[in-house]
Amino acid sequence: MSEDTHPAATYQNYLRIDELLSLQQPRSVGPEHDETLFIIIHQVYELWFKELLHEFDRVMQLLEADESHRSQHTLKRILTILKVLVAQLDILETMTPLEFLSFRDRLDAASGFQSDQFRQLEFLLGVKSEQVLGRFAAGSRALAALERRYSAPTIWDAFLRYLSRERYDVPHSHLARDVTAPVEPSPEIQRILIRVYRGDPKNAELCERLVDLDEGIQEWRYRHVKMVERTIGTRRGTGGSAGAAYLKETVGHPLFPDLWAIRADL
Ligand code: HEM
Repeated sequence: MSEDTHPAATYQNYLRIDELLSLQQPRSVGPEHDETLFIIIHQVYELWFKELLHEFDRVMQLLEADESHRSQHTLKRILTILKVLVAQLDILETMTPLEFLSFRDRLDAASGFQSDQFRQLEFLLGVKSEQVLGRFAAGSRALAALERRYSAPTIWDAFLRYLSRERYDVPHSHLARDVTAPVEPSPEIQRILIRVYRGDPKNAELCERLVDLDEGIQEWRYRHVKMVERTIGTRRGTGGSAGAAYLKETVGHPLFPDLWAIRADL
């Protein structure tokens, strides 16, 4: 397309501001004051999830290309975004239980539980579940994206393959493992990681960034469940789960158990 068929870029048209500002549609009568915050914060999360997926795709490509330094640079960006995601929960915690209850019944079954982008992030990080796929409509964008991530290697797989190319003797069974299965702790991988930490500063740094990532995700889960507890107590979730009791079960499970297991042996 020739240049003159495009209108000159302005802040308004480049960022589609009018469309963006038309996307916050409260459902409560009035509407209730706090519903605007609730909508905006979830939309902002979804935008950050989109950016995280974009950056994770880059990290995977860089690891595959053995570009360790650049993959660490991108991981640093991801970790900084993750900090913002955790900090945003502070804003939601300014909403009292009664303020939330003023519009909660208008949410019907809507819940972050149904966020396909959050599940895409989980899949990419190795938390995969076939059951999750069943919750998304056939033919939807969400299901197509999730199916693609379900059958794709996780970031841990990309890391092990990278280590193998760095001449570590990662067993074939790990390199060719079923990428839909959970990442299980492995004494063989732990022995390799100990060697990395003791004698390979470049790759030990990369390991530390993965630990940061693991801790950052666990931090978000912990802060989210605390926020849920203080806002709805023991009520059930709008998504149909037991609420905080369900969420508590998801806290404290490491993504990369081998990186935690070796700490006592270093
Ligand atoms: C007042 C604010 C919030 C409350 C009371 C709340 C409550 C809950 C509850 C009870 C669940 C469990 C599933 C269910 O039955 O619904 C859940 C899951 C979830 N929520 Fe929230 N939430 C809030 C804000 C947020 C925000 C801002 C996000 C950001 C996207 C979010 C993302 C999620 C995700 C991703 C899950 C699924 C977690 C998992 O299955 O491990 N929530 N939420």
